[in-house]
Amino acid sequence: MDYRDKLILAPMVRMGTLPLRLLSLDYGADIVYGEEIIDWRMINTTRVENQILDTIDYVSETDGSVVFRTCSREKDRIVFQIGTADAKRALEVALKVEADVAAIDVNMGCPKDFSIKGGMGAALLRQPEKIQEILATLVQNVKIPVTCKIRILDSLEETLNLCKMIQNCGVSALAVHGRRKEERSHQNNHDDYIRAISKELKIPVIANGGSNDIKCYEDILSFKKRTNAAAIMIARAAQWNCSVFRRQGSLPLESVIKSYLKYVVDYDSLVGNAKYCIQSMLRDLQDSDVGKALLDCQTLESLCQIWSLDAYYRLKQEEFKCRLGKSGLYQPS
Ligand code: FNR
Repeated sequence: MDYRDKLILAPMVRMGTLPLRLLSLDYGADIVYGEEIIDWRMINTTRVENQILDTIDYVSETDGSVVFRTCSREKDRIVFQIGTADAKRALEVALKVEADVAAIDVNMGCPKDFSIKGGMGAALLRQPEKIQEILATLVQNVKIPVTCKIRILDSLEETLNLCKMIQNCGVSALAVHGRRKEERSHQNNHDDYIRAISKELKIPVIANGGSNDIKCYEDILSFKKRTNAAAIMIARAAQWNCSVFRRQGSLPLESVIKSYLKYVVDYDSLVGNAKYCIQSMLRDLQDSDVGKALLDCQTLESLCQIWSLDAYYRLKQEEFKCRLGKSGLYQPS
């Protein structure tokens, strides 16, 4: 996988499931990260080839839920992000998924309590030996590229030392969110740190944290210019309207939501997840009639009705039933 001059959909818990990833690829993203999945959750899954949806599902052995769903279309573009504090568990996960994904990433930037208390995410930034152990174990034993995603430290010097140490572990690229662990997303991103890191490292640096200033494709180019990074990774700007990846210009939100919903139907996503994602897209329109109607939805079909996609939903459901019949898995009662 080549990371240079790439536009990347950032990892986003709950948002970064298959529908948003495929839609981002449609709009021009080159690489898409999946949501962070904690190592032990993935370890307790079984890999299932889903013949009805044409997907690969990693299904929880505990509760039967789909922990990770992917498909052949994204195989060369999807980066699987692990939340981990343990080299052995990280390797077990990486070996489990490496045939189905393009690269493995380790989250070393998450500031949430859950991650920090578990020694994961940004907690790793202050444990260079643990970082080395996890990354070197992955790089030495996994066939696909390994990367990691960090936040910056207090001083530029400390941050550069950390980045050089990570580079020496043999990773293929490094994603840098230009904020410190305690800095929130409304605060300024330290683009100057990313610029300095890009200058210092030999491996591609992926700039992240620019969404406050990204409303359209040209703004992505400005962020690239400011940071001089090899690639750009976008989270919130894509969460709000993922057609931001379109070189020809962003599309109206309604059209984006419709296309998103079609993928939700195609891949039989959970209604709760789809609702969350569409709410994130609606933002201050959540109080509108459409926003209120969305809040009331309990099923995928009722959700589709809001955007006049109920006929599409029924058609797809018929198709799934047909495939179920052909697969021999369907046992009429
Ligand atoms: C995130 N972020 C994040 N980061 C990560 O490494 N793994 C993850 O699973 C998540 N989850 C997540 C969910 C949501 C809803 C948001 C908004 C963010 C952080 C994200 O990838 C990124 O680093 C920051 O949002 C900064 O980039 P932007 O938003 O300025 O482009």
